[in-house]
Amino acid sequence: MIDLHSHILPGIDDGARSMDIAIEMARQAVSCGVTHMVCTPHIHKGYFDNTPQSIEASYHSLVKAVNDADIPLTLSYAAEVRVNELIPVWLRKGELPFIGTWNGKNVLLLEMPHSHVPQGLDSLVKWLLRNNVQPLIAHPERNRELLAEQHKFAWLQRLGCLFQVTAGALTGRFGDNVEQFAHALMSEKSFHIVASDTHDLARRPNDMKAAFERVSLFDKTFAELVFINNPAKIIGQEHL
Ligand SMILES: [Fe+2]
Repeated sequence: MIDLHSHILPGIDDGARSMDIAIEMARQAVSCGVTHMVCTPHIHKGYFDNTPQSIEASYHSLVKAVNDADIPLTLSYAAEVRVNELIPVWLRKGELPFIGTWNGKNVLLLEMPHSHVPQGLDSLVKWLLRNNVQPLIAHPERNRELLAEQHKFAWLQRLGCLFQVTAGALTGRFGDNVEQFAHALMSEKSFHIVASDTHDLARRPNDMKAAFERVSLFDKTFAELVFINNPAKIIGQEHL
């Protein structure tokens, strides 16, 4: 499996707190059947002011440590970018790290606030699409406004977003409401990617194995699409 969303880079956001923990997270990912993990630390203005440079430096340290520990996990890096007014500026300056591509567009993992759908999101999404960027919305099933008003999900779909559901949402880690919403989205096959969004070993571990089994019970072909084939398409590995 390919895990497109993780907070494994040590010490640069609210994910892994040390390299030792990052290495154990890498082992945990492999034990879940993950072969490729994209490191996606937060870029959240005023909270986690990461840049492509800071992420790249941390990424190279992790790659070395994972190789030294002989862990069979391929890594790449991007970021999880919180919606904010500077995104167009960052794009023009080349400061937005992309996960890969989708139908020729650069894929941006875009995070909404957890409490609501931010005003102006529609304009941002349309602007990004016009500028050759494909927004991949992180964990819509955990957004409280979408949870309360699920018809708004269809509005986001019509804008042309891709969606990433978090593995633990499908297995109940975030409670019954989130699980039910995630399963409703699954029954309509309305998301494109499942990823771990792992932050640590215990509270937010890698749930990809259990989630894959859960989605396979619903539809094995869909499970392979959202855990393997779509992520592979994004990172350009679809023929492997
Ligand atoms: Fe995340």
